Amino acid sequence: MSQADPSAFAAPTASYEADPSSVRRVLLLYSGGLDTSVMLKWIQDAYGAEVVCLTVNLGQPGEDYAVIEGKALRLGALECHVVDAREEFARDYVARAIKANAIYGSGYPLFTALGRPLIAKLAVAQARASGCDTIAHGCTGKGNDQVRIEATIATLAPELKVIAPVRSWRMGRDEEIAYAREHGIPVKGGTEAAPYSIDDNLWGRSSEGRWIEDLGHAPEDDVFSLVTRPQEAPEEPETVELEFERGVPVALDGDRLGLVELIERVAELGARHGVGIVDHIEDRIVGLKVRDIYEAPAAAIILPAHEELERLVCTIHQNQFKPALDRQWAYLVYAGLWWEPLREDIDAYVDAVNARVRGKIGVRLYKGRAQVVTRESENAIYDAALASFAESGGLFSQSSSPGFIELFSLQSRMAWRLRNEE
Ligand code: ARG
Repeated sequence: MSQADPSAFAAPTASYEADPSSVRRVLLLYSGGLDTSVMLKWIQDAYGAEVVCLTVNLGQPGEDYAVIEGKALRLGALECHVVDAREEFARDYVARAIKANAIYGSGYPLFTALGRPLIAKLAVAQARASGCDTIAHGCTGKGNDQVRIEATIATLAPELKVIAPVRSWRMGRDEEIAYAREHGIPVKGGTEAAPYSIDDNLWGRSSEGRWIEDLGHAPEDDVFSLVTRPQEAPEEPETVELEFERGVPVALDGDRLGLVELIERVAELGARHGVGIVDHIEDRIVGLKVRDIYEAPAAAIILPAHEELERLVCTIHQNQFKPALDRQWAYLVYAGLWWEPLREDIDAYVDAVNARVRGKIGVRLYKGRAQVVTRESENAIYDAALASFAESGGLFSQSSSPGFIELFSLQSRMAWRLRNEE
């Protein structure tokens, strides 16, 4: 099944796809799982190329990087690099997403989409440092991740080529397991049922495949590995207080924390209270509709808190305008166009607005719900005396209101009359 003869490969479709005969040293984005472990052997075998592995830590829980590294070297990798990119991910990707209230398709907080351009950027840097001519990744031909990774590589490193073996090797899961057995690649766990397809980082976790593909199938318990099911969450609600500066959370319940640790702590609290489960149908960039089960407890608390604070410090006009930009930002990032100038243009506006987003938001967590219950900001465009039902003296002249209403409604009234008196 290994296609050791390079002429067996289809001709490249895109300019950045590798011509098999010129692949000498490959940087493989390695996770330690079945696909990329089989790939590690298969690339050496089918291309006669050397393989350098890169594993990126974006805060995916429960990963043992020493084990991954050992496995890569045992399977013949020339080098295996593990990069801890959690700080950079939080600072340059997740913080921007928070300021842009980033949600795609009214439910998906984009954690995977935010991670891919960073992973691909780090792959480019490592490929150059290790003298590789080609980057390989484990994405299928049906998902968004191939778009995000390949668009990033083609943008940042036009000299590098790409191979995506899963798109071309025509092995199903059974053939992969057979290949693994044949080549001494350890296969973790039982091999009877295909596992869920998982991707995760500190901003959330997605599961795909199995019964999730059956739209009529309600979520089974075994898919949830992060978030407690709401019905099993504590009977007592818990309120957390998030403090923001320039639109980014800086403290949790009065403790100033770095963003990575803050997100991890918020995720833990949310997970305990059943917060952040999303059962989502998504319009993929490649045309498919696909269902995902998401567990994103930190995002489910931090995003609504940020949005609330932003609304408080912004005018009605800013509040009408920004969601359209936020939506476009989320779409670009979802679609793998992180390096598109429009994304940075939008960020400039998002940063300008967020310069004033400072204050504290209390969020009550209870059995799957995260509800904003308190707000506090020195920049709030809010005056309790003005808003009050009590008489506010000369600050707000109620007697001016009828004149305002007459002029404000003028065009609408004229139009209504024209239509209804014809
Ligand atoms: N549907 C989500 C997205 O497009 C999650 C993808 C998860 N990726 C994965 N390789 N399992 O971003």
